[in-house]
Amino acid sequence: METRIVGNSGLAVSALGLGCMGLSYGYGPATDKQNAIGLIRAAFDKGVTFFDTAEAYGPFANEELLGEALQPFRDRVVIATKFGFQQGDSTKGLDSRPERIRQVADEALKRLRTDRIDLFYQHRVDPNVPMEEVAGTVKELIQEGKVNHFGLSEAGVASIRKAHAVQPVAALQSEYSLWWREPEKEILPTLEELGIGFVPFSPLGKGFLTGKIDENTQFDKTDFRNVVPRFSEENRKANQKLVDLLGELAMQREATPAQVALAWLLAQKPWIVPIPGTTKLHRLEENIGASSVELSAEDISQIDDAFSAIPVQGDRYPAHLQKRVGN
Ligand SMILES: NC(=O)c1ccc[n+]([C@@H]2O[C@H](COP(=O)([O-])OP(=O)(O)OC[C@H]3O[C@@H](n4cnc5c(N)ncnc54)[C@H](OP(=O)(O)O)[C@@H]3O)[C@@H](O)[C@H]2O)c1
Repeated sequence: METRIVGNSGLAVSALGLGCMGLSYGYGPATDKQNAIGLIRAAFDKGVTFFDTAEAYGPFANEELLGEALQPFRDRVVIATKFGFQQGDSTKGLDSRPERIRQVADEALKRLRTDRIDLFYQHRVDPNVPMEEVAGTVKELIQEGKVNHFGLSEAGVASIRKAHAVQPVAALQSEYSLWWREPEKEILPTLEELGIGFVPFSPLGKGFLTGKIDENTQFDKTDFRNVVPRFSEENRKANQKLVDLLGELAMQREATPAQVALAWLLAQKPWIVPIPGTTKLHRLEENIGASSVELSAEDISQIDDAFSAIPVQGDRYPAHLQKRVGN
């Protein structure tokens, strides 16, 4: 697979990473551990060198899983993890106090079975801790050799600039896909100006853009999508038009909807590295196949025109979580 450099940081990764959250957390019961290890190792065998996790996924179980799965080839992969919640629990409050960041780093190193975190993101901006202090703490961790690069997730432009002035930010990880294009307004131009790479999460629209979810899909009771307005039965029905359209565009290009959704992201900027997540080997292969789907400028404008004509129904987060993004 093509290698991409994340902004000006020099961090080199496969053009598509693997989002590992869903193997432990968020979308129903965790995948059986041996199967999950097999999937992660298969991704590496097929050219993926960029693996995304967080203290909060589990909490802790996902980092432990990656630690075990990646150990045989640790030096040939880039591991990204995240800090920022009280006790690592995303249902609790935010916590980016310097002492907490240091504690997360030390504990994550053990769980990941490594001596350095390649990319350490703040999961959400903490309104109670000045960004300069957060960036200063990560800068110290970099000086100590525990962390290689600093990242932010769902941060707003002002926070990105403040952080970058203290410790250059290698990457921003925020939601971006054919059905969430908000980052195009202010975020992408700012990242381009500052030389920061972009890692779109939920690049497949949490599965919706693949065409495998419809109004009749029943999610497990622990599945996060049960509380996402965009995934209410009514909104799934309304948003089906998007997927039908993507299906047509994909068919014309002899690709699948998931592949077109990923290829569209890859075509936006050479410093964009999407991290689709899956628990299934055949879908991993399908998603990796997107890296060989070439979309021309004409394809992109056709897709853009078609999508802009269809309004997306429903917010991407419930109100209490919406407050945590864009700060
Ligand atoms: N920074 C943040 O706040 C944040 C938030 C969310 C996610 N993330 C990161 O981003 C990664 C990816 O995001 P995501 O998992 O939310 O969303 P995603 O990659 O857009 O979608 C994942 C969902 O799509 C399904 N899927 C994947 N490939 C498919 C295919 N080819 N055909 C049909 N279905 C397919 C998966 O189900 P199966 O498992 O059944 O295939 C899963 O339910 C996560 O793993 C996590 O590392 C970060």
